[in-house]
Amino acid sequence: MKDVTAVVLAAGEGTRMKSAKPKVLHKVGGEPMLKCMLGLLKRIGIDDYIVVVGHKAEEVERVLKNADGKVRTVRQLRLLGSADAVWQAKSLFSNFKGDVLIVYGDTPLITHSSLKKLIHSHRTKEADCTILTAVTKNPSGFGRIIRGENERIVKIVEEQEADKYEKAIGEVNVGAYSFKAKELFSALEEIKPDNAKKEYYLTGAIETLFKKKAKIESVCADDEEEALGVNSRSDLSRANAIINKRNMKKLAQKGVTIIDPATTFIYGNVEIAGDTVIYPHCVIEGTIKIGKACSIGPFARLRPGTILEDDVQVGNFVEVVRSKIASGCKIKHHSYIGDTVMGKGVNVGCGTITANYDGKNKNRTIIGEGAFIGVGTILIAPVKIGKGAIIGAGSVVTKNKDVPAGVTVAGVPAAVLKKRHKAQGVNS
Ligand code: UD1
Ligand code: CA
Repeated sequence: MKDVTAVVLAAGEGTRMKSAKPKVLHKVGGEPMLKCMLGLLKRIGIDDYIVVVGHKAEEVERVLKNADGKVRTVRQLRLLGSADAVWQAKSLFSNFKGDVLIVYGDTPLITHSSLKKLIHSHRTKEADCTILTAVTKNPSGFGRIIRGENERIVKIVEEQEADKYEKAIGEVNVGAYSFKAKELFSALEEIKPDNAKKEYYLTGAIETLFKKKAKIESVCADDEEEALGVNSRSDLSRANAIINKRNMKKLAQKGVTIIDPATTFIYGNVEIAGDTVIYPHCVIEGTIKIGKACSIGPFARLRPGTILEDDVQVGNFVEVVRSKIASGCKIKHHSYIGDTVMGKGVNVGCGTITANYDGKNKNRTIIGEGAFIGVGTILIAPVKIGKGAIIGAGSVVTKNKDVPAGVTVAGVPAAVLKKRHKAQGVNS
């Protein structure tokens, strides 16, 4: 997006989290909160952003570098408040004529639709400042939006400074603002730490701008849930629950049945096609693609890099990671399938394990179409099982001892029992 640079505040210590890890690196929906915010900015077309780091700056910068090599950071050496955090980025805005979008690294529930509305309204109304607000029944902890004559915003009052009338106001500051750059930095210059925390509050800029007769506008978030700022572990649980609920709602709209949303956890970039049924107590996390009419769980765990084609059955106590399972496969009980490529119609017996890690490397297992893996088999990777091969129950197929197509092996280590002339599909 042209003429918008975002500033993401991520320097705070997050003391209420009681954590050795910086708050913004705690995961919401399977991703560090800060990355959720950067993803959101990208989604609305903002690729120019500056992250203000401070508390455990190196740790935060490391995560940012892995996410986006080009990211610009500035350091806030003393954590003097959110206004001071923005001030650290001032030198990067000399001669900048556009808008500055300020967001916090601890508000992962803001939607792209609300942020887009904020930027759009700010531009079309040619405002000096536009604030994203939300109306909530429980405004405790938030900055309250104080309106005066003609409903114009006069100031934002933080919880600790609010009197009982202000505390009763249900319209709150979500923590996303669009400012004209010049107006922002001139207002910041005037902010004083005259509050209980002795901090330079960014929200103080609003009253300063009002007194200068600047044009202050607001946009209301689509849903009050978006306002949730993650300040404590309870907030973290709540944010995760909301993301999970949103993900399940989207999937349900696409024709996926989730039997028990209360015990299902779906996080990340998860695509599931229609008529798939998710039974209770499943965790599906990461970049995952599931085809049509699959059956997952109960008690299944699908980890990043799992691809299931159509009509796949993954049953109870099955874990799958970094694996591609072709259509019609059945892995119905107590299995671990990692770094595996499975052809169509494979039947994986109860208790089958792919031993993919040799202590140094993750190795691949390849199982050909129609193979039949007997119960309690261990496949020590790297290994290939040919099309239509049969592995007897309790076998250990050792590494690089590939089983040719159509051959039956059994034992520990697995040895050939029977050669076949032709590969055959086998049903359970
Ligand atoms: C802030 C808002 C409040 C709003 C709420 C929404 C202020 C003064 N108050 O309160 O009006 O309703 O968010 O969630 O902004 N930070 C720094 N450096 C600092 C201090 C903070 O980078 O010196 C960053 C934090 O990392 C965080 C953000 O600023 O990402 C907000 O700080 P936080 O202390 O969480 O403010 P709240 O009390 O939640
Ligand atoms: Ca906060």
